[in-house]
Amino acid sequence: DWTMESFIDAQVKAIREKVGERQVLCALSGGVDSSVAAVLVHKAIGDQLTCVFVDHGFMRKNEPEQVKKIFAEQFHLNLICVDAKERFMAKVGGVSDPETKRIGIGNEFIRLFEDEARKIGEIDFLVQGTLYPDIVESGTDTAETIKSHHNVGGLPEDMQFQLIEPLNMLFKDEVREVGAELGIPDEIVWRQPFPGPGLAIRILGEITVEKLDILREADAIIVEEIRNAGLYKEVWQSFAVLPTIKSVGVMGDGRTYEYPIVVRAVSSEDAMTADWARLPYDLLEKISTRIVNEVKGVNRIVYDITSKPPGTIEWE
Ligand code: XMP
Repeated sequence: DWTMESFIDAQVKAIREKVGERQVLCALSGGVDSSVAAVLVHKAIGDQLTCVFVDHGFMRKNEPEQVKKIFAEQFHLNLICVDAKERFMAKVGGVSDPETKRIGIGNEFIRLFEDEARKIGEIDFLVQGTLYPDIVESGTDTAETIKSHHNVGGLPEDMQFQLIEPLNMLFKDEVREVGAELGIPDEIVWRQPFPGPGLAIRILGEITVEKLDILREADAIIVEEIRNAGLYKEVWQSFAVLPTIKSVGVMGDGRTYEYPIVVRAVSSEDAMTADWARLPYDLLEKISTRIVNEVKGVNRIVYDITSKPPGTIEWE
């Protein structure tokens, strides 16, 4: 019968046979799927695997540091970290249309990844953290074309890679089990989904360094408080959104004119539909007070009470 250990053993054996002495590349994002796939392939072939982590500058607070710490220092993966903050900002900083942002970020990502692949030389295989539901969805589902996701495919056809997709028979909860069995820390294994374009699609309209800093700090407070309340695993996603409007407030004896932060938290099974999370008022109160007190440039907090449909989970 099917156990996590036997799954891992079988995959390790299959990957070794498939790869032989050749070289393998993996784009590591720090999300559950790519992390589990990378560690599994590393278990099979060690240093024949090179992972590339692209820091596009739209990561959450401490995320790039955490990825380096866990995968380079703890797991000893052969990890290349590309600091591409300036390149991405130059590319999409002035863009306000959501789809143009996504496409710009996706294309730039592929370009950087190709550059790294060329530097390494002879690469025969590419690891992808594709799950069973990804395969099912990307074939037929019209929802996929509503927003142009770039998890599946997306790489140019002139790149001659064979794919290694060790998770493509698994559902999310099974991937988490495999991850835990492989010794990947809870903070990765239980991480909520995070879109490829990252915070870029949570700043509505044009992206600036100032707005990124505000959003990153506000987002960290939301996640921290939801964790402290013991609700992080229960909620599908919980995060901050920064609209490009300002409103009037009062602080001390002065009038303020600053950004609001939108708190978004949803429960869901598969992200196709979602319900706004009924977070306790006390928790919302704490999040609100902390963000306004601790994040400079924010004077108002609103809670998004829209389910999907008609809303989407993200705001762009
Ligand atoms: P929406 O906003 O369409 O999101 O309800 C559904 C799920 O997909 C994630 N999402 C993305 N993931 N690239 C990604 O890799 C993207 O461009 C993207 N847009 C949305 C979103 O976070 C949610 O989990």
